[in-house]
Amino acid sequence: MRTMKLGKSTLEVPVVSVGCMRINSLEKAEAEHFVQTALELGANFFDHADIYGGGTCEEIFAEAIHMNDDIREKIFLQSKCGIREGMFDFSKEHILESVDGSLKRLNTDYLDILLLHRPDTLVEPEEVAEAFDILESSGKVRHFGVSNQNPMQIELLMKSVKQAIVANQLQLSITNANMISNGFNVNMENDSAVNRDGSILDYCRLNDITIQPWSPFQYGFFDGVFLGNDKFPELNQKIDEVANKYEVSNTTIAIAWLLRHPANMQPVIGTMNEGRLKDCCKSSNILLTREEWYGIYRAAGNVLP
Ligand SMILES: NC(=O)c1ccc[n+]([C@@H]2O[C@H](COP(=O)([O-])OP(=O)(O)OC[C@H]3O[C@@H](n4cnc5c(N)ncnc54)[C@H](OP(=O)(O)O)[C@@H]3O)[C@@H](O)[C@H]2O)c1
Repeated sequence: MRTMKLGKSTLEVPVVSVGCMRINSLEKAEAEHFVQTALELGANFFDHADIYGGGTCEEIFAEAIHMNDDIREKIFLQSKCGIREGMFDFSKEHILESVDGSLKRLNTDYLDILLLHRPDTLVEPEEVAEAFDILESSGKVRHFGVSNQNPMQIELLMKSVKQAIVANQLQLSITNANMISNGFNVNMENDSAVNRDGSILDYCRLNDITIQPWSPFQYGFFDGVFLGNDKFPELNQKIDEVANKYEVSNTTIAIAWLLRHPANMQPVIGTMNEGRLKDCCKSSNILLTREEWYGIYRAAGNVLP
């Protein structure tokens, strides 16, 4: 597995991150096998959140990997906080409580990265800064990031937070490519010209913040997988054509498309299928040509001005 530097940190991480939101769909033995396969593939970066499976995903993962000091040294653990029932909560108290909960469930004493999960409009940047300082000085969290945030929200945090924001986890796939389409349609009179995210793609590039595309195989908001889906005939035909050329699967090409972007992204994949996990990891060896990248982009129905 190819590796990359995560944001401004010194962490050298795999280019594909294993999302654990769906690990509670596996039986114990299956989860053990899945995690073991990931490690053998060099996919040792695991993405969690306090809320996945109501906390059970972190526990299932820790059991599946047989967490101990030796294992802990060999993996990267990222978790998230800030989503609560009916609200978002970036209060100091909630951040600290949430991290303690994740550490307990993950059976570890530190997170490599903590992300603030979804913007909380009641955020007090000073409180977040206090929470981050406490977490950093106690050794509970080594690096910090955000998720689903636009540039101004990050700037607001940075008014008080002194640690670098190393990652921003955002929804992005071939069929959810707003942040890319927007950049093609500057000042045009079409929908793609509407700037929905404050130019987050360029902002992250400018500030060395790693974009972690979540749901890289979904269209809509968890509406389904676009691969092999009759709703996207042209896209699937194009992806299959490229996949045939490289003698890999369509899954590999969907991730290779994200990795081809020079923003240096780290997709967070959600499959719990070992075959597909292997296919996702293979994408790290494939560099799509400019023609292939644009061909796939257009086949998804995205138009160039
Ligand atoms: N920051 C955020 O707000 C946020 C939001 C959502 C998710 N996430 C993170 O992102 C990760 C990925 O999200 P996701 O699970 O929605 O992403 P995904 O990788 O787009 O979707 C994975 C799901 O699609 C299924 N699938 C079916 N056919 C597939 C194919 N050909 N290739 C790949 N998958 C196929 C998988 O089933 P199989 O298991 O059978 O392959 C699995 O259920 C999560 O685990 C979580 O860590 C973050």
